[in-house]
Amino acid sequence: MSTIRPRRSCLYMPGANAKALEKAKTLPADVLLLDLEDSVAPEAKESARDAVAAAVKAGGYGKRELVVRMNSLDTEWGHTDLEMAAKSGAQAVLAPKVTGARDIERLSQLMKDAGAPAEMALWVMIETPLAILNIKEIAAEAHRTHLSTFVMGTNDLAKEYRARMTADRLAFQTALQLTVAAARAYGLTAIDGVYNDIKNPDGFREECEQGRDLGFDGKTLIHPTQVDDANRIFAPSPHDVEQAKAVIEAFADPANAGKGVLKVNGKMTELLHLDEAKRIVATDDLIREFAG
Ligand code: COA
Ligand code: MG
Repeated sequence: MSTIRPRRSCLYMPGANAKALEKAKTLPADVLLLDLEDSVAPEAKESARDAVAAAVKAGGYGKRELVVRMNSLDTEWGHTDLEMAAKSGAQAVLAPKVTGARDIERLSQLMKDAGAPAEMALWVMIETPLAILNIKEIAAEAHRTHLSTFVMGTNDLAKEYRARMTADRLAFQTALQLTVAAARAYGLTAIDGVYNDIKNPDGFREECEQGRDLGFDGKTLIHPTQVDDANRIFAPSPHDVEQAKAVIEAFADPANAGKGVLKVNGKMTELLHLDEAKRIVATDDLIREFAG
C-alpha cells in the first residue's frame, strides 16, 4: 500500500526543536520526519511527543508528507508514541529497529487498535543486522499490512556492524542493495540513509547520486541545506525526461508498429525501456503537480 507521490527529500527534525518544526513549513522537502527517537534526549521524550502532536494538529505544512518517527516498542515511550501518531493526522508512522515480519504484524495490529485511519501507512527503519537478514520476509508483509516504505538507518547499522562509514559506503552495499531489491519485489518505497557531514555539500551530492544509482526513491536529510540537492538529484533530469518522451513517441509511431527494438537518439531501445520511459515521465509530472 503506497500512494504515489515524490519522496526525494525526507527531512528529519527533532520533535523537541520547536524552531525546526516551524521552519519546516517553508522548506521544499517532500517529506518531514518528525522525530521522537534518536534525536530526542530521554528527558525530552514526553514534551517532544506533545509538541509533535500539536504541530501536526495545527498544520500549515501544505503538501509535505508528515511522518512521525516513534521510539521502539521495547522502550518505555514506544506504545504512547504510536498511539499519538495513530490519531495525529500524520500520513505515516515510522518505526525504528525492526528485525523481522512479526514486528510488522505487531505494529500494524497496534496501529489498528489505536484507531489509525485506513489510509495511514507504516514506514520502518532498516537499521539492524537482523532486518537485513530478514529483509524479504519483512517486505512481504506489505501485502497484508499498511507497510509502505523502507528507510535506511545507516548510522545505527554502522554501529551494529562495527563498520566504518567510508565515502564509497563499501560496508553497506549489501544492506543497501538488498533493501532496494526487497522494496521493488514487494512494491515498497525505498529511502536512503542520512549524510552526517552537513558542511560537505560535495560529499553529500556524491552520496545522493550513489543512492539514486542504486535505485532509491529519495534520501533522508538532517539539515535544510541538503533539501535542494536531494530534490534535484532524485528527480529525473531534463535530459532523462526528453529521452523518455522520445522513446514513448518512437514506440507510438505507426511506422514502428510491431517492432520490439528501435534506435532512439542513437541508443538501442527495447520494449522494456518503454515501461521505464513511462515511469520517468509520470514521476516528472508528479513532481510538477506537487510543486504547483
Ligand atoms: N529541520 C528543520 N529546520 C532545521 C533543521 C532540520 N533538520 N536543522 C536546522 N534547522 C534550522 C535551524 O532551526 C535554523 O533555523 P533559523 O534559520 O530559523 O534559525 C536553521 O535551520 C539553520 O540551522 P543551523 O544553525 O545551521 O543548525 P543547528 O546548529 O541549529 O542544528 C543540527 C544542527 C544537526 C542539530 C540540526 O540540523 C538537526 O537537529 N538536524 C536533524 C537531526 C535529526 O533529526 N536526527 C535524527 C535522524 S538521523
Ligand atoms: Mg537510529
